[in-house]
Amino acid sequence: MKIGILSSGGDCPGINATIRGVGKTAISHYGMEVIGIKDGFQGLLKKDYTPLNAKSLSGLLNLGGTILGTSREKPFKNLLKGEKDDKPQIIIDSYNELGLDCLVCIGGNGTQKTAYRVSQLGLNVIGIPKTIDNDIWGTDITFGFNSAVDIATEAIDRIHSTASSHKRVMVIELMGHKAGWITLYAGMAGGADVILLPELGYNIGKVNEAIINRAQQGKHFSIVAVAEGLEVKGKKGKPAGYLSQLIEKGTGIETRETILGYVQRGGSPSAFDRNLATRLGGHATELIANKHFNRMVSLKSDQITSIPLEEVAGKLKIVTPDHDLITQGKRMGISFGI
Ligand code: F6P
Repeated sequence: MKIGILSSGGDCPGINATIRGVGKTAISHYGMEVIGIKDGFQGLLKKDYTPLNAKSLSGLLNLGGTILGTSREKPFKNLLKGEKDDKPQIIIDSYNELGLDCLVCIGGNGTQKTAYRVSQLGLNVIGIPKTIDNDIWGTDITFGFNSAVDIATEAIDRIHSTASSHKRVMVIELMGHKAGWITLYAGMAGGADVILLPELGYNIGKVNEAIINRAQQGKHFSIVAVAEGLEVKGKKGKPAGYLSQLIEKGTGIETRETILGYVQRGGSPSAFDRNLATRLGGHATELIANKHFNRMVSLKSDQITSIPLEEVAGKLKIVTPDHDLITQGKRMGISFGI
């Protein structure tokens, strides 16, 4: 069999480990041929490919980013708007010219949706869930998330010492798109005093009350972890600066903000993500060998399984208010701003 593999959407730690997991299993266990497609779906449109072999698949396990490159190309965008576009046909032509038996799509929500649409064109597709945001429906955890949480937790640890020295409130904004997973996990692991999630919303009075209460107990600094997707002033995105002003005004305590940004997506994957990526990659190849197509591999209760792409497409996995970390956090006096 001959398979193509691409990475699409925002990069994250563990993509190369996945390419390695798919490629090495495909070549050495199943005797398949593997083609790397450059820059996500753009590679199929521009016919930009590279064969992958034992040599090119070596040294990838701990490497950040993606050796194949990525893009946010959405080949069905125009068609969905009712406009004419030959991109879907170019994808079919490239797939056939390459003689592929399956296309492996490593990506987040957008990529899984596109992968489903590609499968509707009659091509064989397998999705592998990837994103620091952990917001893909149908899998317990996406690779990239654990690494991003480690990075964000270390950042919160570092913010603590400077907050304490200056007796300041420090607002740290973390990634996650519309979901609060990174902020919840890193906020709790980093000992944030206030954790603000898009799924819960916030009340500035409650936020300030929590900070003032701490000051009255002699704790003259506070750490506020806020998810980038929190809606402020009726808008999503970049909440840290705005909240920082409101907190300083409402508490009278000097307040600073930090936006952690892309550092959360960079660098080497954690050991957990390397192993998750390896397992997902291996199982993806097994699905292909068994001709079990148009599914996304997923992690469920520590077992790798798979679900139809049709079930994943267009859905989002967000934090629920009854999440155990929220329950335990509240019992310990951590404010969720509500
Ligand atoms: O999906 C991963 C992510 O890093 C989000 O957390 C963030 O909102 C978004 O990508 C940033 O996108 P871009 O790379 O297009 O700036």
